[in-house]
Amino acid sequence: MTALLDILGLTANYGDFQALFGVDLHLGAGETVAIIGANGAGKTTLMRAITGIVRAGGSITLDGKNITALPAPEVLMQGIAMVPEGRKLFASLSVEENLLIGAHARKGNGQWSVDAIYQLFPVLKDRRLAPGTALSGGQQQMVAIGRALMSNPRVLLCDEISLGLAPVVIRDIYAAVPRIKAAGTSIIVVEQDIGQALKIADRVYCMMEGRVTLTGTPATLSRDAIHNAYFGVSA
Ligand SMILES: Nc1ncnc2c1ncn2[C@@H]1O[C@H](COP(=O)(O)OP(=O)(O)O)[C@@H](O)[C@H]1O
Ligand SMILES: [Mg+2]
Repeated sequence: MTALLDILGLTANYGDFQALFGVDLHLGAGETVAIIGANGAGKTTLMRAITGIVRAGGSITLDGKNITALPAPEVLMQGIAMVPEGRKLFASLSVEENLLIGAHARKGNGQWSVDAIYQLFPVLKDRRLAPGTALSGGQQQMVAIGRALMSNPRVLLCDEISLGLAPVVIRDIYAAVPRIKAAGTSIIVVEQDIGQALKIADRVYCMMEGRVTLTGTPATLSRDAIHNAYFGVSA
């Protein structure tokens, strides 16, 4: 059976440095997958390889179509949108303008509009004219997620969306995931918080040093197995 997103034998390099060594990953339609792993494991590189920002070897297929060599704007048009690490909002633009930038790559008659994003994150409606810089970290993260959703993606990639945020804010942000799934979008979240990843995901992949070291469902993965896959086992 083919998944919505099929990644096979993915490799990526920064100059002479190899960051990914044959990564296999599958995302089914309607699924939420979490990728966990320590700093430097290659999680962001994997996200960048999927979205065409970093050139990759191996193969990436979306709904049976080979997208491995497509440039980033084309990958977005094919339906893969990313919430990048560090949010990367346009600081001089308002919340609403940032959201509208995401609509630039809009496809079809999907569900997402500025109003739908304000329903998802009501706090953004009150702040819609505020510049990106005037927002709290959590509000900025909501705008970054909203901006990605505005393209009506089939696949949403979220890179460390909870980093540096207070637990109550993280809860508010992750509360949006079921509604994003209900809109027909499949999700990959990169998360350093293992507990959060296990809570939200249908399946989990653990990465270490550019490789997938463990995969399974939250129910079948033991804490020990995750710990070993995350940190490595010392001989
Ligand atoms: N632009 C870059 N140039 C060179 N090396 C990089 C670059 N970005 C990341 N790396 C290296 O690639 C490896 C994987 O990094 P990254 O994908 O950012 O990991 P993670 O997101 O899991 O923390 C690390 O060793 C990192 O130092
Ligand atoms: Mg990263």
